[in-house]
Amino acid sequence: MAISRRELLRKSGLMAGAMLTHQVRHKVIGVRARPALDPNSLAPFVDALSIPATAKSMDMRASPENPGTKIPYYRVAMRAFETKVHRDLKPTGMWGFGGTFPGPTFDVRRGQEVLVEWANELPEKHFLPIDHTLHGAEASLPEVRAVSHLHGAKTPPASDGYPEDWIVPGKSVLYHYPNRQDAAMLWYHDHAMGINRLNIFAGLAGAYILRDEEEEALHLPSGKYEIPLVICDRMFDKEGQLYYPVSDKPESPWIPEFFGDANLVNGTLLPFLEVEPRKYRFRVLNVSNARFYRLALSNKQSFHQIGTDQGLLAAPVPVQKIVIAPGERLDLIIDFKQSAGNRIVLKDDFVSMMQFRVSAAGVKDDSVLPAKLRSIEKLAELAAVKTRVLSLDEVDDLVQNPVKMLLNKTSWHEPVSENPALDSTEIWSFVNPTNDSHPIHLHLVRFQILDRQRFETFGYISRGELRFTGPMVQPDPAEAGWKDTVRAEPGMVTRIIAKFEGYPGRYVWHCHILEHEDNEMMRPYDVLPRA
Ligand code: C2O
Ligand code: CU
Ligand code: CU
Repeated sequence: MAISRRELLRKSGLMAGAMLTHQVRHKVIGVRARPALDPNSLAPFVDALSIPATAKSMDMRASPENPGTKIPYYRVAMRAFETKVHRDLKPTGMWGFGGTFPGPTFDVRRGQEVLVEWANELPEKHFLPIDHTLHGAEASLPEVRAVSHLHGAKTPPASDGYPEDWIVPGKSVLYHYPNRQDAAMLWYHDHAMGINRLNIFAGLAGAYILRDEEEEALHLPSGKYEIPLVICDRMFDKEGQLYYPVSDKPESPWIPEFFGDANLVNGTLLPFLEVEPRKYRFRVLNVSNARFYRLALSNKQSFHQIGTDQGLLAAPVPVQKIVIAPGERLDLIIDFKQSAGNRIVLKDDFVSMMQFRVSAAGVKDDSVLPAKLRSIEKLAELAAVKTRVLSLDEVDDLVQNPVKMLLNKTSWHEPVSENPALDSTEIWSFVNPTNDSHPIHLHLVRFQILDRQRFETFGYISRGELRFTGPMVQPDPAEAGWKDTVRAEPGMVTRIIAKFEGYPGRYVWHCHILEHEDNEMMRPYDVLPRA
C-alpha cells in the first residue's frame, strides 16, 4: 500500500496543524505492517487518570559552580517497562524515565540548583523502525542512544543535552540545572540525533515544574487541585503494542509526520478524573510527535488560560477552545462549580481526550483566580541589534513526497550560521512557504512573539521574493506571554524577539515536529561571549 502523502493530505486536509478543523481520526501516513487496533472499539473512561510520581532527590552533592554548596542530587534511569494503557488491553511495552510514562514530575524551586544523573538502562536493540539514511542515525552507530534535554530551561551548554552527546545503554551523565528563571512548567525528553522521534514515541518524556514565591503568593489552585496533563497521540496494534508506521521504501522507513488515532492523557487511553465542583489548575503539555490539539470542554463552558510555555501570562484569558502544538505548554484554570454532579469531556475537535466526573459537593474553594497575574515587560523592537530572516523549507521528490525538511536551506552538519552574542537582543523572522505549521523551538532562551504576516509563497519559492499580502497580525492573547516554542504558520512570516541571556556556548534550534527535527529541521547555534 503506497500512499502519496501529499495527495492523502490534500484530501483529508491533514497538513500538520495547518487545518486543525479537518484533523480526522484514522488518518495514517505511511504503511501499516501489522493489524491495527481501533481505539473506538474500547470502552471509554474506564481507567482513572494516573498522576506521575514526583521525582525524589536521593542525596546532596557539591554544586559544580560552588563546590562549597551542597545541592539536591537525583538519579533517573531510562528503562523498558510494561504498562496498562487501557483496562481491556494487554500490557504495552514502552520506554520511560524511571520506568514510567510520563516519567516522574520534578517539583523544584527557582534558584535551587539541582543535579540529575540521567542513566541509560535501555535494551541494546530498538523496537521501532530506525531510518539509517538519516544524518546521525547511520547503521554504523549503536542502535540505542539517548540524551536528556530539559526543554525551556536556561541550562549551561554542557548540561543542555546536545543531540550528538548521546550515551549508550550502561552509561550515565550528570547534568546541572541552575533553575535561575521564572516559575514555569518545563519538560524533559530524549534528544538523540536521528532517532529522537522514536525515543519520545517510545515514552521518554516527563514534566518539570519550577515554582517561585511570586506565583505562590497568587493562591492559585494547588496540591491535589493542580494536575499535570501530558497529552499525546499514539497508534497500537491488535496486541496492544505501540506501532509506528513506515514509508513504502524499506531502506528508508522515515515518514514525514506521525499521526495516531489513540490519544493518551498521562499515559492512559481515555481516562476519567473525579473532581470537586471548584477550580482546578491543569498544566497541559503536548508531547506528541506531530499532532496539534484544539482543546475544548463538551459542555462548551469557557475556562481561563493563565500561562504559556514560560510561565504566567500578564492576566487570565477567557477561552473556549485552545490550540497546543507539540512542545508547547498551557496553564489552565477550569472551574467546575456550575457542573456539580455532571460529567464533562475534555476533547479535541473530533476526539475525546478524557472525562471529568464532577462530584455533587466538595470542600470550600479558597483558591483564587486573580485579575492580574504578573507584569510582563514587552521587549522593544528597537533593542534588537540584528534581525535574522530564516526560511522553513520542505524538500520534496518528484511526486511531491517530502524527503527532508530544512531551516534556512541549511543542513545540520553545515557550519553554524546563527550566533547571537550573550545578552544581545535579536529578532528572528521565520518565513514559512510550506503547507505545514512548524512549532519552532529555541533552546536556552525565552522569547516573545512580535507578529505574523501573510506573504505570497509562489514568488518566494520561485524567485526568493518576499511580498506581503496581508496585514501584520498580533499574537493571540493566549500566546502573548513568554514562549519557547512558536507556531510558524503556513504562508506567513512569524517574528519573535529574544534576549540571549544565560551562558555562551553551543545550543540548538529546531522544529518540534519530531519527524522534521530528525530529518534536518534542526540547526546548531552559538551564543558568543559578550561582545
Ligand atoms: Cu523539546 Cu530541543 O526540545
Ligand atoms: Cu528545548
Ligand atoms: Cu516542521
